Amino acid sequence: MQGWDVSPADLDVMTEPAAVGSIADALGLSEEATEWVIDGDARRLECTTAMGPVDIYVAVSGGLTYEVVAAESIPILIESGRVSARVGSLEHVRDMRAAVGRSGLPTEATAPGAKRGVPRVVAIDGPAGAGKSTVSRAVANRLRLTYLNTGAMYRCVTLALLERKADTDDPRVIEEIARTIEIDFRDGRVLLGDRDVSDAIRAEDVTEATPHIAAYPEVRKAMIERQRDLFSAGSYVAEGRDTGTVVAPNAPLKVYLTASPEERARRRSLETGGGVPEVHAALVVRDQLDSTRKLGALRIAEDAVVVDTTERSIDDVADEIAELARERGIA
Ligand code: DC
Repeated sequence: MQGWDVSPADLDVMTEPAAVGSIADALGLSEEATEWVIDGDARRLECTTAMGPVDIYVAVSGGLTYEVVAAESIPILIESGRVSARVGSLEHVRDMRAAVGRSGLPTEATAPGAKRGVPRVVAIDGPAGAGKSTVSRAVANRLRLTYLNTGAMYRCVTLALLERKADTDDPRVIEEIARTIEIDFRDGRVLLGDRDVSDAIRAEDVTEATPHIAAYPEVRKAMIERQRDLFSAGSYVAEGRDTGTVVAPNAPLKVYLTASPEERARRRSLETGGGVPEVHAALVVRDQLDSTRKLGALRIAEDAVVVDTTERSIDDVADEIAELARERGIA
């Protein structure tokens, strides 16, 4: 998980009552070094450790329960006698610290983007019609990072196959095309070789065939390699289906963008001009294909921030994601 690394001594630890014993053991605490304190709604084990005082809370005041914290993922890692806390949601760190009378961020918290060997990538995944392209572009503009539409890459492979009337059931032919075509992004346009195919890759037949082509392991492998090459040399806001789960699992910020199926169908129908019921039906089929294929299936990364765009403006969502990226040291 790609979260903030925080010393438990600075964060304070919140956990289930059942886990207190093993944390205390991992901290090497004797019974004399610990004391249970009940303070209003708060219940904590105050510990004196070599790294300073650590309070292990099983309940805090301010209505913040363990269930709430657990749902926002603040895993406590216990590794060979060492306890560390890795925090997915910064908001929760703030809430927890506020609940125990501390303000702001832990002083020596390491931002995910500040760690060595981490790609400068905001990975934005999610189903069709969630607003990925518009939001990703807006986030890239705000952060001055390069926007990468990985869906367009899969569409280019499909277009090349269809244009060459290649056998779409022959993995060897498909692989050859996936590996050899030249895909480029320039000034917001998509180029196949030196041809602008931005509109051609959005044609109905390409849209329909792409989920099938994108399911070929040979195609996925070729596209993942291309995407990783790009990530190793630049800073990106990349949208797709498996960017955060497969292509860049160590991206410092992963967002899973979603919206209700009705809203997604409404948006797609505005884009394509099709009727909402037909678009909705096609969307359900694509969702099914995208989320059930064996490789690179659409799923929510464990440490992704889930953002529902159903009743929100693009600016609002883009502002939130850009702020998260800044906080995590990506931009
Ligand atoms: O995001 P889009 O609608 O342009 O994507 C087109 C197709 O490509 C869609 O069916 C899912 C697939 N795709 C994929 O399999 N992996 C990605 N990283 C991006 C898109």
